[in-house]
Amino acid sequence: MRDAALLRRIFVAGSKGQLGAAFVSRLSREGELTAVDLDELDLTEPARVRDAVRSSGPSLILNCAAFNDVDGAEARPLEAYRVNAEAAWTLAGLARDLGAVLVHYSSEFVFDGRLDRPYAEDDEPAPQSVYGATKLAGERFAAAAPKHYVLRLSSLYGGHTGRTTVDWFVRQASAGGPVRAFADRTVSPSYVPDVVRATLDLVGRGAPFGLYHCGSSDWCAWADIAGHILAACGRPELLEAVPFAHAPGRAARPQHCAMSSAKLGSVARAPRDWRAALDDYLAGRARA
Ligand SMILES: NC(=O)c1ccc[n+]([C@@H]2O[C@H](COP(=O)([O-])OP(=O)(O)OC[C@H]3O[C@@H](n4cnc5c(N)ncnc54)[C@H](OP(=O)(O)O)[C@@H]3O)[C@@H](O)[C@H]2O)c1
Repeated sequence: MRDAALLRRIFVAGSKGQLGAAFVSRLSREGELTAVDLDELDLTEPARVRDAVRSSGPSLILNCAAFNDVDGAEARPLEAYRVNAEAAWTLAGLARDLGAVLVHYSSEFVFDGRLDRPYAEDDEPAPQSVYGATKLAGERFAAAAPKHYVLRLSSLYGGHTGRTTVDWFVRQASAGGPVRAFADRTVSPSYVPDVVRATLDLVGRGAPFGLYHCGSSDWCAWADIAGHILAACGRPELLEAVPFAHAPGRAARPQHCAMSSAKLGSVARAPRDWRAALDDYLAGRARA
């Protein structure tokens, strides 16, 4: 890592979430780490956030906090907006004032999911849900920091919380299924350890600031992921591949979420292909 000085003072928001906790465990020996989550600092309280960040004086701010309840955001749009968008604006202003680098995470849900190829960074966003709209606003606010990296993730998994669709597949597989998964909903899943590595690589190499997609180097359907997990468990017959359908009463989700991480790969170590990352995760679970 070239720019090790940036890792001397780090502020991590959302430090108990699946991504934030992975950064805390990776960076705890790197330098002075200030790690906060909702129980210590509510990011929607700008005055308190300014005090906390200024007093820790970070050179790097990692914003892993988010209002991630996609369905809940439809009923609580203001709450979602304040966490996903306004808080990014507060942190961007602080990063600018302190000369710090701001890393902020967005989502593939900024797209409408109608494209028949992986999304690139310059494809036009068209969010279909309140969550997606607040994430889009947040990435634009984060870009107000002169030194910023905004990384769009796709179906993040592999952290400590164990609450993702991948974890549900694994649990269903061990419980004897069935494992129902969309045959025609695509994704480039983001694996937590690969996101951590890519982020630190971008920062450490002093890569050009801007927007990067950070999903697996290839893409697949959800049924491929379920099938891979079931094959690893020796229970392939439990797979029920079903066509994509919007569940009534739930927020609209994009059907095609595949993203190209080629831009990221041209300047830093991009995530692995989805099978290699998933195998790594399954092997880690088996060892635990
Ligand atoms: N998970 C996915 O599939 C996915 C997909 C694409 C992009 N992303 C993005 O990736 C990033 C990391 O996601 P993740 O899965 O690690 O999220 P996560 O596990 O839900 O963690 C988010 C953390 O932020 C905290 N938080 C919520 N509101 C807050 C507030 N007002 N002030 C301070 N902290 C607050 C949460 O606390 P509580 O748990 O107490 O609410 C939680 O600890 C987020 O930007 C997310 O939008 C995630």
